[in-house]
Amino acid sequence: MTLLDLMHKYQTDKAEHRFDIPYGFFFDEERRGQVRSVLELGTKKGASLRVWEEYFPNASIFGVEMKSKYAVYASDRSRIFIGSQSDPEVLELLVAAAGSSFDLIIDDGSHMSDDQVASLTYLWRYLKPPYGIYAIEDLHAHVRFPEAYSNERCRYPPMSDMLLRHIEGRIAAEAGQGGAPGICVYGAVALLLKGEEGPPLDCDRFLKTS
Ligand SMILES: C[S@@+](CC[C@H](N)C(=O)[O-])C[C@H]1O[C@@H](n2cnc3c(N)ncnc32)[C@H](O)[C@@H]1O
Repeated sequence: MTLLDLMHKYQTDKAEHRFDIPYGFFFDEERRGQVRSVLELGTKKGASLRVWEEYFPNASIFGVEMKSKYAVYASDRSRIFIGSQSDPEVLELLVAAAGSSFDLIIDDGSHMSDDQVASLTYLWRYLKPPYGIYAIEDLHAHVRFPEAYSNERCRYPPMSDMLLRHIEGRIAAEAGQGGAPGICVYGAVALLLKGEEGPPLDCDRFLKTS
């Protein structure tokens, strides 16, 4: 079964966005077998957890979800931590339970810039070097639903703007710094590619827009 088939099978909207294409590009069959640890922020009814369970047969899957009613979608392969993706206490518990760095982290949570920045700031150091991937999904959310994304959790500019600025101005400056991520943008998902372990990502500087 292809990744797109799995996304349809479990009915995650990742199929509609064709996020199978960028994930499939980076995770060929050999690499999929080597993946040990995957984290998704925002799990809802567990559709994508079921996809990752099948797609990464040797991985433990971890999720963070704000709403406690979705805790029932945990399984013997997937643990769900209830709380906010921006809460360091929740993330600390999760990282301790995972016990090792993640091969893949997916942010499909609130899509609000402050939460995205808080998660990236905390979790980047727990992504495996080299080749770990940190995906930020639904970069178009603030355009589709402008009212939902103009609140106090969106003090940072939209993630798409911050990444664009980074691509425009900072890549040359960051080159050779070891920990600076490469960025692949496919439709409404950005995949940040971790290089060698360098200094911890200075997220504020990385994302700074001025
Ligand atoms: C788009 S849905 C996730 C869908 C799921 N990843 C899938 O593909 O099947 C977003 C989820 O993020 C949760 N969420 C919203 N804000 C959050 C936050 N601050 N921390 C963690 N989860 C959050 C919502 O409750 C919702 O269940």
